[in-house]
Amino acid sequence: MDDDNKETSDIELIREKEQQLKRITLMYESALKEMETKIKIISDEFRMLYNYNPIEHIESRIKTPESIIRKCRKRGYPITYKSIVENINDIAGIRIICSFIPDIYKIIEMFENSKDITIIKKKDYIKNPKENGYSSFHIIALVPVSFAYGISEVKVEIQIRTIAMDFWASLEHKIKYKYPKELPENIFDELKECSCMINEL
Ligand code: GTP
Ligand code: MG
Repeated sequence: MDDDNKETSDIELIREKEQQLKRITLMYESALKEMETKIKIISDEFRMLYNYNPIEHIESRIKTPESIIRKCRKRGYPITYKSIVENINDIAGIRIICSFIPDIYKIIEMFENSKDITIIKKKDYIKNPKENGYSSFHIIALVPVSFAYGISEVKVEIQIRTIAMDFWASLEHKIKYKYPKELPENIFDELKECSCMINEL
């Protein structure tokens, strides 16, 4: 291949990848919007049934292209549209912060009863906290999104936790990622102890 042809094919490849990333972003942003509306309805229904609001607040985010590519590299997945959609479960992420632990299980029950949401993976780090003390309930759900060409079932990672668990997870995340070198030795024992207290709270 001569230089001109190589340059044209490189540009075409970059354009194609750019187009794929745009498609991924649109797909997952739309899934987040759908999911946020569904959670709002679940919350309103909850309020109607039990006469109080179980949800303190909701956060959502889309994984950046840089972070998607980093995760693929780290885990040895090919960086293609098909592989990203198949392998990366947390491109769209929603965090639901509840007041109390029973609220979390009631919300999960409502998700399970919902006809259009399909739960494909559940992890109960509340009944079985991680070794470091991390507690939260994780769900990977498929949410149908209607596009001009048809309906797509898009994966969304939902993390449900209490205010106390969220407080612990934010601090632990900051400690782990922001200060990896200068940590006092007993900090992880202290964090675990705090997590036990938090789960009793
Ligand atoms: P990915 O790591 O997302 O591919 O999924 P996984 O199945 O390997 O992980 P898991 O469901 O256990 O955790 C997914 C997400 O939960 C992470 O990306 C974090 O946001 C959160 N999480 C898991 N473990 C911890 C932890 O020990 N500390 C904190 N702060 N967050 C955690
Ligand atoms: Mg993640």
